[in-house]
This record gives sequence, structure tokens and C-alpha cells, in this order.
Amino acid sequence: MQRQSSEILCHATAMLMDATCRIATDMYISYEVIPVYRGRMIDATAHLDRLDYSLGELRIAPPMGRRALELVIAQLIARNGLTNGLVYMQVTRGVAPRDHKFPKDVASALVMTTKQTKSLPPSLLETGVAVITRPDIRWQRRDIKSVSLLPNILAKQEASEQGGYEAWLVDEQGLITEGSSTNAWIVNHGRDGEAGEIVTRPRSHDILSGITRLAVIALAKERNLRLVERAFSAAEASAAAEAFLTSSSAFVLPVTQIDGKPVGSGKPGPLTLRLRQIYLQHAEQAV
Ligand code: PDD
Repeated sequence: MQRQSSEILCHATAMLMDATCRIATDMYISYEVIPVYRGRMIDATAHLDRLDYSLGELRIAPPMGRRALELVIAQLIARNGLTNGLVYMQVTRGVAPRDHKFPKDVASALVMTTKQTKSLPPSLLETGVAVITRPDIRWQRRDIKSVSLLPNILAKQEASEQGGYEAWLVDEQGLITEGSSTNAWIVNHGRDGEAGEIVTRPRSHDILSGITRLAVIALAKERNLRLVERAFSAAEASAAAEAFLTSSSAFVLPVTQIDGKPVGSGKPGPLTLRLRQIYLQHAEQAV
């Protein structure tokens, strides 16, 4: 009896290792998070293009063709009755004995889950959120979406423990790269009654090219809003008229406090709220 149960335990452990070997033993895992709004994905093509890019950079073969993948995701959304939330997908190099070198003849593996999310509490939109700044101690290829997220997680946790929503990460030049799981934006004071200029860091290896960021840039440009892609410092952000962050889960979210000091009026800025509305309209068009 004793022997039997230890055999079962052994077996269970072996199965667990088989299923999670890569997950447990290396960082060659890429992932994607696709927002779902009223049952339909927002900007699915851009998210799947970014997944292909990350897989390419990590030299992981796509788990299946694009059309098949789209159908599987649609099935997953339908079967889980997902209305508003996120599709989470993780692609690993495959199951193989632990080794830093790539395994040979192993098929990549895909795991997907869905998560229903509640809409953001209205109070969060009325007050905006607080961010703290922290040094960006991540590796130099932040454009690859991989699960090597320890610095992001530690920074986010610190922000949360201080009552904040996000940590904005600062590079060695004192410039903000992005948030731990969001892109960072400011709006400068407009001169002579002009609307302020929207500023966000340009796409490079330094940041994840957020799909919400790309959509907001395109939507702002379509409306002839003044927008420039350049890096900005924490000091510039603190002195800005408005600040906000973007991500698949938060969409466009006003930032009203940086390191305990109010940004602008200390209330969500008008341009930020307008961009949020514009983004929601864009999300609705996917429906
Ligand atoms: N985070 N920067 C980082 C480091 C991110 O992890 C994310 C996304 C973003 C925003 O990208 P997008 O607009 O495509 O969501 C920027 C997702 C939501 C996550 O890891 O859960």
C-alpha cells in the first residue's frame, strides 16, 4: 500500500515535470494577451503579429498556422462564454529534458486560457491612478514578449504595496521606458491656448510595442491630435499637464500622481479622457 502511493506520487511528479518541464526550467516562453470586448477580440491581427515576432526572435516555431490559431481562439472565447476580458496564450519551445541548448525535433506547445474581467471601477476613472518610478533593471530586449517578468513583477508589487497601480521604469539616462505591464504617456502643457502635445517613447528594443499604444497613436493621428514619439524623463512627467497609461487590460487609464505628487490638476486630464473614449469606440468597432 505504502509502495503503491509512493509510485502514484512518483508518477504524478513525472507527469507534472513532463507537462511543465520547459515552463519550470527555462525562459524560452513567449506569450500574448488579447483583449476581448463584447465577445470579440480587439486588434487580434496586431496581437498575433506581435506573437509571431516574439517567436521569431526566440526561434520558436509557431504552434500552428495563423488561420487555425484564429479559429481555436474563437472557439475558446465561444466555449468559455467570454464577453469582456482577456485571452492569455503561452507558447513554449516544447516538452524536453532540461537543457540550455534548444532541443531537437520537438514541437512547440501552446496553452491558452481566458479570463473574464470586470470593467474598471468608475472611481478609478474619476480619480485616476498613482504610479511610482523605479529603475528599469530588465534585460535589453524588452520588445520580445516573454515570461521573463521578474523585474516587472517586483516593481508592480512595490507599486501595489504603496497603494499605486503601476511602476514606471526609468533607464540609466533618467528616461521612462514604460510601466511594468503598460506603456507610459504624458501630455505637455499647450502654449497659447493650443491643445497639449501627446508624448510617448518610440518603439525600440527598450519597450514592448504595446498594441493599445499602436492603436492610440493611429487614432490620435487620424484626428490630427499633436503627438510625438520621444523619450521623456520622470521630471518632465511630473511637470506635465496630463499623464496616462495604456494596455490591453486597462485600455487608456489616467495617471494623476507620480511618486506621491499630483500631475497637472491632480485629476484625469481632458485629452486623456477623450483618448479613452476614442479607444472605446475603436473597441466597439471590433464587435
Ligand atoms: N501587458 N509594456 C509591458 C511591459 C507589458 O507587459 C504590456 C502588456 C504593455 C502593453 O501592451 P498591450 O497594449 O499590447 O497590452 C506594455 C499585458 C497586458 C500583460 O502582460 O498582461
